[in-house]
Order: sequence, then C-alpha cells, then structure tokens
Amino acid sequence: MSDLYLKLVNTPVGKTAAQSLGLPSPIPLKRLKRVDQPFIEGDVLMGAGQGARAIATLGNIVGASPATLHHASGLETLAESSKAGPKARPLDITGLSDTTFPALVFDASGLQKPDELRALYDFFHPTIRRLATNGRVLVIGQDPHTCRKAPQAAAQQALEGFVRAIGKEIGKKGSTANLLWIAPNAENQLDSSVRFFLSPRSAYVSGQTVRIGKASEAKATNPVAPLAGKVALVTGASRGIGAAIAETLARDGATVIGLDIPAALDALRSVTSKLKGKAFACDITDDEAPKIIADFIQKETSGVDFVIHNAGITRDKTLGNMPEHFWDMTIAVNLTAEERIDEELAARNLMRENGRIVCISSISGIAGNFGQTNYACAKSGVIGYVESMARHLKNGMTINAIAPGFIETQMTADMPFTIREAGRRMNSLSQGGQPVDVAEAIAWYCNPASAGVNGNVVRVCGQSLIGK
Ligand code: NAI
Repeated sequence: MSDLYLKLVNTPVGKTAAQSLGLPSPIPLKRLKRVDQPFIEGDVLMGAGQGARAIATLGNIVGASPATLHHASGLETLAESSKAGPKARPLDITGLSDTTFPALVFDASGLQKPDELRALYDFFHPTIRRLATNGRVLVIGQDPHTCRKAPQAAAQQALEGFVRAIGKEIGKKGSTANLLWIAPNAENQLDSSVRFFLSPRSAYVSGQTVRIGKASEAKATNPVAPLAGKVALVTGASRGIGAAIAETLARDGATVIGLDIPAALDALRSVTSKLKGKAFACDITDDEAPKIIADFIQKETSGVDFVIHNAGITRDKTLGNMPEHFWDMTIAVNLTAEERIDEELAARNLMRENGRIVCISSISGIAGNFGQTNYACAKSGVIGYVESMARHLKNGMTINAIAPGFIETQMTADMPFTIREAGRRMNSLSQGGQPVDVAEAIAWYCNPASAGVNGNVVRVCGQSLIGK
C-alpha cells in the first residue's frame, strides 16, 4: 500500500509545509537494490570500551566489505579501538571535520561496571551528528544473563536503554540503532547478524536487542545465495508478508513450498510459479492439517530446512461483544496450528539438521491492543512458545519470532483511516514498514551462519512507541 504522506513530505513544497506545521518528515528508507550489493559501503567508524572482546572479530567482518574502516583514536577510554585489525586506520575523533559515517559500531562487551559506560559517551558524543542519513548504530555487549557480577550486569543492561534512546534521536534521519548481546565466547557467531544490522536489509528494524549464544562454528556461506539447497515451508504465502517471505527466501536460494487456504490457491500459484516453488492448499486449522502437510513434504522433498509460520488472521471486537468463533479461530490460526504442525514434523523427522522455525508474533502480542484480546493473546502465546522451544530444540535447530509493527499490507489497508495513520507514524521512523522488511529479518534468522541466534523476538516496527 502506498503512503501518500511520505511521498508528499519529500517534495520541496511538502517538506516546507510539514516543517512549518510541526508535522513528522519521514525519510524514505533505503532498502536492498541488488542481491550482490555490499552490506555496507563508505566510511565506517569502530570504537571499543575497556576489555572489548569482539573488536577484532568486528574488524574482520566489516573489513570484508568495501567500506573504508576507521577506528577511534584520541581518547584514553577508547584505547582498545585499535584492536579492530590492520584494515582499520586510526581517526582522531576529537577533531572531526566533515566526514559522515554510514555506520558507527561500538564494542561494549568488556564493560565491567557502570563508570566504564563513559566510553559510550566518549565515542558517540563527537560522532553521532556525523551519522549519515539511513545510517546504522550497532552496539555489541555481553548478555546480562551471563554476567557473574551485579556491576557488570548493570553496565551491560544499561546498553539497552542507551541504544533505544539513541534510536529515537536518529530515527528522523531514517537511521537505526540496535544492540547485539553475545554470550561469553560467542564472538564467532556475530557474522550474519553484523551484516544484517549494518545493511539496508534491516531498514525498518530499530531499537532491538538480539541475544546471540554459542553454537557450532558458523559456516561461511555464499553471500549472494546463502540459502541455496534449502527447502522452506511458508504458510499464508499467497499475499502480503507471506508472499514477500517466499520471494525473499527464494531470492536467497531456497526452494519454497507456499501454503495457503484453498480459496487463495490461484493467488498462491501466481506467487510460487514465479519462484519455481510449489503451491499447497490447506487450512492449517483443519484437524488433519499437520498430517496432510507432513505427507506432502515427505512425498515432495523428504524434509524441510525452514518452517515459517506466517499465516495469521485478526477478528477484532471488544471482549464483551466478541462472538466465540472469533476467539476460537484467532487462537487456532495464530497459535495452536503452529504447535501442531511443528509437533508432527518433528515426530516424523521431517525437519532437517540445523533447521529454522520462525513464528510471526505482533506488537499487539507485546503491548495488547484495543479490540484484540483474542489476537494479542495468540500473538503473546507465540512468544512463550518460541522462548520455551528454543531451550529444547536439538540438531542445531533454532526457533525465533518476528513481531511486526505497522506493515503496509491488505490487513493494515483495511483499518479505519485515523487508526491506520496513527499506526504508521507512531514510531521513530514515522512510517510503516514494507512486507520485505519482515522477510529480510526472516532470511537473516534462516542464514546458516545465524546458528547462535535462538529464542529471540525481534520487532520489525521502526521502533514503535507502543510496547516495550
Ligand atoms: P494477510 O491477511 O495479508 O495474509 C495472511 C495470509 O494467511 C493470507 O494469505 C491468508 O489466506 C492466510 N491464512 C489465514 N488463515 C489461514 C489458514 N487457516 N490456513 C492457511 N492460511 C491461512 O496478512 P499479513 O498482513 O500479510 O500478515 C502476515 C502475518 O503477519 C500474520 O501472522 C499477521 O498476524 C502478522 N502481522 C501483520 C502485521 C501487519 O501490519 N500487516 C502486524 C503484525 C503482525
């Protein structure tokens, strides 16, 4: 769906009018144009606080891009920035002139106590105004759950507030800020996440914290087709976010089995035929659905690598006015069906080693929403399901969720005008996301190098003001 306001305020007359009326002036977000596009280009500045553990790894990852790498110098608190590796040239940040940075990357993983947080100020204070439009702030910390001492946990937890606040300050430039919390010795799991969060693929992801744990050594993948040879099942793939997921996973090399209700089969076929994928009609709430899906997978491919539980419905009514079938259907499609399908595929050994399960939650499941007790309940249940399953999966499998905010699809086009406009603007980027923004985040979860990313709920919401 088109956002006419976004187009209007980016004309000279519209920009002046919006400024004089104090209205938001969203910046058009840069998204991926070509699959072989480098994940970052231009001048990238890296910094590190005391005891930084990931700085050398970060230097290697960013050093593999065509970006010109700099490490901060000139301040004692940032001395460890020089460990960013041979490709990084020193840059005295106390006397910056006219350089603009598409990305500022800071390794805070070694901070042991709150007074060491001063390094954040020292790095970002002189540089943040030099962040380019559509820029990226990326901070690396240590997961506070793994900190032994309270001062260390306090310093590491503090990073979350810092990143969320900075995200709100830079959102008006179309820029994002995110935090990667690594477990001890999990630096070798950073590659796919650093690439994702620095790239245009994460255009609508801001204010997020991702926990990255230890996993078997992340395999180097083909950056242009990282999912080659993999098979993905995508539910609700005939339109909207599901169609974008199918297209994005296929673009990255996967073979897609698209599933949707029988009434959507023609639309589904038009999506999957372009991708050389398979279309499969099934109502996921039918009693026999898990068995029918498993039979189809067994016959067609003998197993899947990715299961993307995207199918979802809303049936909004305030609770006192809600007919019982609204409640039952919403829970069945958005929550129960996912569990039943996963159970059947696991029982019949149809999920391959290093498989990925991705569920779609919603901001509504995090914050609740008027008239959506059923939907919020189901989408919150999705989070509980993901967090619990993440502790039990074996064979290198992971499970994660995406919680979309306002995404421009048929579902949001059907909203009343005022609610739709409020939903679009109430985030740091002052605009709705595109289906591809959700799809790109799912492709990152599915990347073979994302083995350490497990049990996360990442919001694709432009840092919505609603919810945590
Ligand atoms: P959509 O309504 O455009 O697409 C949903 C798809 O699921 C449709 O193709 C539909 O036929 C299919 N589906 C529904 N019930 C099914 C069933 N019983 N069996 C098989 N397929 C079924 O929705 P949209 O906007 O693309 O949303 C996709 C997912 O993202 C949903 O889970 C939704 O709850 C979630 N979401 C969307 C947001 C948005 O802003 N669009 C915000 C938050 C979450």
